[in-house]
Amino acid sequence: MQRTSAKALTEVSVPLVCLTDVRKTFPLPGGAPLVAVNDVSLSVAAGTAVALTGPSGSGKSTLLHLIGAVERSDGGTIDVDGQRVTGLSGSALAAYRRRIGFVFQRFHLLPTLTALDNVMAPLIPFRTVFDKAARARELLAMVGLADRSAALPSRLSGGQQQRVAIARALINRPAVLLADEPTGNLDSQTGTAIVDLLLRLRDEHATTLIMATHDTGIAARCDRVVQMRDGCLTSLDG
Ligand SMILES: Nc1ncnc2c1ncn2[C@@H]1O[C@H](COP(=O)(O)OP(=O)(O)OP(=O)(O)O)[C@@H](O)[C@H]1O
Ligand SMILES: [Mg+2]
Repeated sequence: MQRTSAKALTEVSVPLVCLTDVRKTFPLPGGAPLVAVNDVSLSVAAGTAVALTGPSGSGKSTLLHLIGAVERSDGGTIDVDGQRVTGLSGSALAAYRRRIGFVFQRFHLLPTLTALDNVMAPLIPFRTVFDKAARARELLAMVGLADRSAALPSRLSGGQQQRVAIARALINRPAVLLADEPTGNLDSQTGTAIVDLLLRLRDEHATTLIMATHDTGIAARCDRVVQMRDGCLTSLDG
């Protein structure tokens, strides 16, 4: 398989997200380690929506986890918004994670908290200069759920739960929104509405979006489509 060189994958403009030769391996019992992300280099300009596609097991989720510093890479460098992410630890790492929004396929809302409290949850341990509840209400309104702020997740549809999760991911005004198959658990109409919302965030708030998806229709709506196979980037548009 032909691999595109790292140089060819790098854009000319100053990128918001810049990966250089990023590598992640997982130990396998009694054998060679599994290379989940294999020397990936990728630059993403601010305000771009990137679809990350590729077959199951190709490394999409792992790559998103590395960018969000949920997992630590074994090699290479990751820079986000001018900050070197690789090598961060302790409070600097925690502060970085708060600057990244993450949306998951399975929503991961806290079942005993209302929609409003779920949106505020990432801020609960922290002092803020703004009113947390007011900001959470503003975000719920933005995702079209102003009237459901008191509802528990079990009283919300899948699409509504995902909208709460998106509002939660935005509570810290993230530089980058990472979404791991955000429509994977939704019917196609609801999925389309969620993608509409994510692309509206790009248009209205210049949010940079990196979204793993198996849906070619959704990928085509993004500014760029990046394809992974066996841990490598195999093609990249735009
Ligand atoms: N914590 C882990 N320990 C061991 N292996 C892992 C771990 N996480 C992922 N892997 C392996 O790394 C490879 C890439 O997995 P990853 O979840 O990133 O793929 P993916 O492209 O997101 O797949 P899918 O489309 O099914 O979500 C797979 O072979 C997977 O089994
Ligand atoms: Mg995945």
